[in-house]
Amino acid sequence: MKPSERIFVALDLTDVAEARALARRLSGQVGGFKLGLEFFAANGPDAVRAIVEMGVNVFLDLKFHDIPNTVAGAVRAASATGASILNVHASGGGAMMRAAANAAAEGADLHNVAKPIVAAVTVLTSMDEDDLVAVGQKPPPQDQVLRLARLTKDSGLDGVVCSPEESADVRAACGNDFVRIVPGIRPSWSATNDQKRFTTPKQALADGATHLVIGRPITKADDPVEAVFRIVGELEAE
Ligand code: C5P
Repeated sequence: MKPSERIFVALDLTDVAEARALARRLSGQVGGFKLGLEFFAANGPDAVRAIVEMGVNVFLDLKFHDIPNTVAGAVRAASATGASILNVHASGGGAMMRAAANAAAEGADLHNVAKPIVAAVTVLTSMDEDDLVAVGQKPPPQDQVLRLARLTKDSGLDGVVCSPEESADVRAACGNDFVRIVPGIRPSWSATNDQKRFTTPKQALADGATHLVIGRPITKADDPVEAVFRIVGELEAE
């Protein structure tokens, strides 16, 4: 896979026309686009399908977390959009994740689309050690991440969404083929915004990310195409 194909641009927008325009400008330069809860809540599955129908890969970041039967139904329905990557919360447990894995295969058959990668969110990076303890989980967060990554793998899902600091440990624990989708990416020349723990695109790949989620450094750049060229140039440099 070329380094550029590992980049998923986060289109954190509610406006479909704006999202389509950005996707059109960047299509062919990156691996795909991430559409999240904000876009989905505002526009629904038809708008997701409209982006997929542009011929680009979509990571539909809806982080399902419910009883297994409900998550299975949601994954089956979401797979009808043709998204290439879907996700759930690993803390929903093994039965929920096994149901999600089966539903992704069923949904793909049913809707005649390729089976999406299904990844699990381990610990939200917005949660620190005190937050974990407050919800009754055992610290430190790194141990909880690895516990949930192993459970994700054992449950038949394809990988996890994790922070740049965790991807190397997840790779060591779950193997190289286990997908590691990493947000919190900031090129050295871009604003950090609200990201507190971040790393450069090149470092994130070196540390074991398989997919890079990058939003504002590209979408808020004066010239998003040029920002992508710069990032890809850095990734390809020796
Ligand atoms: O603009 P920025 O590059 O910070 O966007 C990162 C994207 O990844 C956003 O859609 C954000 O919600 C998501 N994300 C994150 N940190 C996480 C999980 C997801 O920034 N731990």
